[in-house]
Amino acid sequence: MAVDVLLGLQWGDEGKGKIVDVLAPQYDIIARFQGGPNAGHTLIFDGKKFVLHTVPSGIFRREQLNLIGNGVVIDPITLSKELDQLDAAGIDYRGRLFVARKAHMILPTHRLLDAARENAKGERKIGSTLKGIGPTYMDKTGRNGMRVGNLAAPDFKERYERLKEKHLQLVGLYPYIEFDLAGEEQAWFEAVDRLKKLPFVDGEFYINQALEDGKKILAEGAQGSMLDIDFGTYPYVTSSNTITAGVCTGLGVAPQKIGEVIGITKAYCTRVGGGPFPTELHDATGEFLRKEGAEFGATTGRPRRCGWIDLVQLRYTIMLSGVTQLVVTKVDVLNNFETIRAADAYRVDGELSRELPFDLVHENYEPVYTDIDGWNSDLSGTKSESELPDACINYVKFLENKLGVPVTMVSTGPDREELVLRSAGVQVR
Ligand code: GDP
Ligand code: IMO
Ligand code: MG
Repeated sequence: MAVDVLLGLQWGDEGKGKIVDVLAPQYDIIARFQGGPNAGHTLIFDGKKFVLHTVPSGIFRREQLNLIGNGVVIDPITLSKELDQLDAAGIDYRGRLFVARKAHMILPTHRLLDAARENAKGERKIGSTLKGIGPTYMDKTGRNGMRVGNLAAPDFKERYERLKEKHLQLVGLYPYIEFDLAGEEQAWFEAVDRLKKLPFVDGEFYINQALEDGKKILAEGAQGSMLDIDFGTYPYVTSSNTITAGVCTGLGVAPQKIGEVIGITKAYCTRVGGGPFPTELHDATGEFLRKEGAEFGATTGRPRRCGWIDLVQLRYTIMLSGVTQLVVTKVDVLNNFETIRAADAYRVDGELSRELPFDLVHENYEPVYTDIDGWNSDLSGTKSESELPDACINYVKFLENKLGVPVTMVSTGPDREELVLRSAGVQVR
């Protein structure tokens, strides 16, 4: 048995949550492997909407087990609020939601540091979600972090105090910002008590034993490949590996255990926060996409920047992750276009190039577009390929052709049911 992977190929918010929820019944375990509550994964079904930040998107399928893997950074406060949301909806997660002991925890002062650093950056700020992600991964790689498994240690409180003191010294380097430390700490310790009630596992043994037992596992990515710490638009990135390689370190599975890699792209492109976005539209079309696609952050509510699909960028992230099948989401957002555009190459210093330049922030480049006929009709809720207009099928085939990977699913609306499964595509086991 292998671990299948599902990840975003752009700058995040491709619709990962929805597709994981759709695929979950085909798997035994859904596992998050990186990122933290900077993620906002939206699921809509039976007229209800849920946004998950830490809990894997398999939680609403009652037969499935869910694991928060060692590569994830957990804020007990956010997690506790998510559990409240599940309780309120009558979703029984008890015995179905496991936490890896080696996952690191986000302390209140990680969030304080995140805010102080971003504030001090002014114009150059990353546009972080301010969830403490960067500082927590810094403590992980700096070998100062606190792991879920440490909660059981008798000196846990002393360790917490030591790390907090270090953070407060660092915060002193930046201009003052308002933060109710005492209140946040109280909420954090209460949430930690809640976290302790979830079953902790040695995630690497848990996953490998499950594989040996013939279980099917889906690894759920967060953020997007262009936010990867190594290959994204550095420094405008997040602090984890969001590509397939992150599954190996974020769950403890060997590379040869990776099976299908399902890459998700919107039919256009968005980005939230700062940093380069080559195909961004600063005009009425960009505004139209934001409105039609309801492009506002699921975690922060910020308006997302919108633009055309970027095939140069997608070929890059498909290469990095070894994507074996594609899912194209939000095609319905392009309902009202005579013509759709796709960047198929970049002009870099006057020369045509099909590769991303080293530094998208400073280099001199511009996208070169190909025009495709739009379908100019309402696709919302379409569920079968035969109902899709020819122009839409042509667009999907154009993407397959340009990207060299079959499109197995086309999403036509936010609801779980609004999805076209393509017979032409490779089926997930
Ligand atoms: P994620 O972070 O990748 O899980 O994506 P988000 O949940 O942050 O953002 C995707 C948004 O698009 C959510 O509001 C979804 O409900 C919505 N969505 C997902 N698929 C579709 C689709 O095919 N059409 C439309 N119109 N909305 C979609
Ligand atoms: P999902 O899983 C979109 C962006 C932030 C910021 C940068 C760094 O919902 O796709 P961080 O908080 O990680 O320090 O922020 O990354 N970002 C996301 N953008 N979707 C996400 O997650 C994101 N998580 C982080 O906006 O630009
Ligand atoms: Mg999101």
